Amino acid sequence: MTIAASAQDASVGYPLSPKTRQFLAQACLGHLIDGKFVPSANGATMPVVDPNTGAEFARVAQGSPAEVELAVGAARRAFEDGRWRHLHPNKKEAVLRRLGALLEDNRDVLMDLDMLDGGIIRSQTPFFVQFGIDVTNYYAGWPTKIEGRMSPTGPDVVVQQVREPLGVCAVIMPWNAPSAVPLGVVAPIACGNSIILKPAEQTPLTAIFFGGLCEQAGLPAGVINIVHGLGGTVGAALVEHREVDAISFTGSVETGRGIQAAAAKQLKRVSLELGGKSPQIVFADADLDAAANAAAWAVWGHSGQICTAGSRVLVNRAIHDEFVARMVDASRALTIGSCFDAETCIGPVISQKQLDQVTRYVELGKAEGAHLALGGARHGEKGFFFEPTIFTAVSNRMKIAQEEIFGPVMAVIPFDTDEEAYAIANDTTFGLAAGVWTRDLGRAHRASQRLKVGTVWINTYQLNETSVPYGGVKQSGFGRSLGAVSIEEFTQVKSVWINAA
Ligand code: NAI
Ligand code: MG
Repeated sequence: MTIAASAQDASVGYPLSPKTRQFLAQACLGHLIDGKFVPSANGATMPVVDPNTGAEFARVAQGSPAEVELAVGAARRAFEDGRWRHLHPNKKEAVLRRLGALLEDNRDVLMDLDMLDGGIIRSQTPFFVQFGIDVTNYYAGWPTKIEGRMSPTGPDVVVQQVREPLGVCAVIMPWNAPSAVPLGVVAPIACGNSIILKPAEQTPLTAIFFGGLCEQAGLPAGVINIVHGLGGTVGAALVEHREVDAISFTGSVETGRGIQAAAAKQLKRVSLELGGKSPQIVFADADLDAAANAAAWAVWGHSGQICTAGSRVLVNRAIHDEFVARMVDASRALTIGSCFDAETCIGPVISQKQLDQVTRYVELGKAEGAHLALGGARHGEKGFFFEPTIFTAVSNRMKIAQEEIFGPVMAVIPFDTDEEAYAIANDTTFGLAAGVWTRDLGRAHRASQRLKVGTVWINTYQLNETSVPYGGVKQSGFGRSLGAVSIEEFTQVKSVWINAA
């Protein structure tokens, strides 16, 4: 089978590492089922597109419910026979530490794939890749630390609260951070679960490469399975499968809503990390030099395709014009171009579909009466580039202020009083994150208490740590990843009563 036959074509001009070329040239970019990479039973494949050029450069296996059946069966067997969950915690940790070391050794491949498949610019790939490594190393230390409890009872009875894995978990991931695969899968594996990963159809390559590293690290067959394919077929089949105990989903609100409804039929456990329309509140006393640049980058980072993008910038009217001028200045001359060029500041969006969505929202913003202060157009004719775009005179009722655009588009909304700022910030169906820019410590605390979100950043934005829980409220979802709380998400408590009379 030669489904990677075209792998060299589009990528030939890029300075890829030899290991990346070797990976792309391998005979089968397939599913990982029961420890083996396999094509689809029906031979179907799907294209992998380089967002820098719009050209197809590889094909991967495209799965169907048949592959889901095989993968779920493999995961179930691996779970039931205890080959992983009953392995001594020290040995589990050793496997996961080897995985962390392998990720480090293959940093260059992960960076190449981020640029080639994910459209992440060269200067940002080290951050994404390092975070995947850090997450792996963080959870590698957990198997020896997942402890149960004893309940306080009378002397005649002993009650153990035992923390057990959930079983077979499906992890459905989006395309916006391919090298963040460890973020989705290492915590459930560290807890002793078996998983089926469904990567986004736009960015399957990092998952395949990661699956290979899991095998090299010595993770037993069937503990991680990977099935590629479209959400409506492979994703839906996983959600509906009776042998899948839990779903962990990251992606759009609409798909998340459908998944929760489908999972409800079997009362299946679901955690949802959905999008946002996160506000950044800039008070009049903010350090404008620091805030203007950072607030702009909170939207331009990865061309706005980050769930926590601070895409609504609420600015006190007293400093509004000056602040907008500074953001425009900081953003006007940014170099837009290929992820592989070292000087690129703004890379492509992921696909033609995403470019069309961004274009549609920009047209809508103009029609809604917002003022275009910067950008507003596609950049170039090849690939999927869009200019950093700033709308001012936005009312929070406009669609460009309410809906997730997932592109480099900022909506600037003026406010007068602090109360008004909180009201606007919270007047959204989302609740993922918020930023606050102020020099007044009291105001910073008041704001953090008033904002209905899962994360508040004060005088900074988009920082993360492996130990800090991350997730949303309202329609940004529920459940938390990272930190110890993720261990709770992927385990459940069993109470064991022992008669000691
Ligand atoms: P999506 O939410 O439909 O896709 C995310 C993942 O879910 C992919 O792996 C996809 O194959 C899978 N999926 C799709 N339909 C499914 C179903 N019925 N059952 C199970 N799994 C399913 O997002 P998509 O279509 O890639 O992008 C649409 C919009 O969603 C974007 O334009 C963006 O605005 C938003 N989005 C937001 C993300 C965030 O992290 N906030 C991430 C990805 C997309
Ligand atoms: Mg791609």
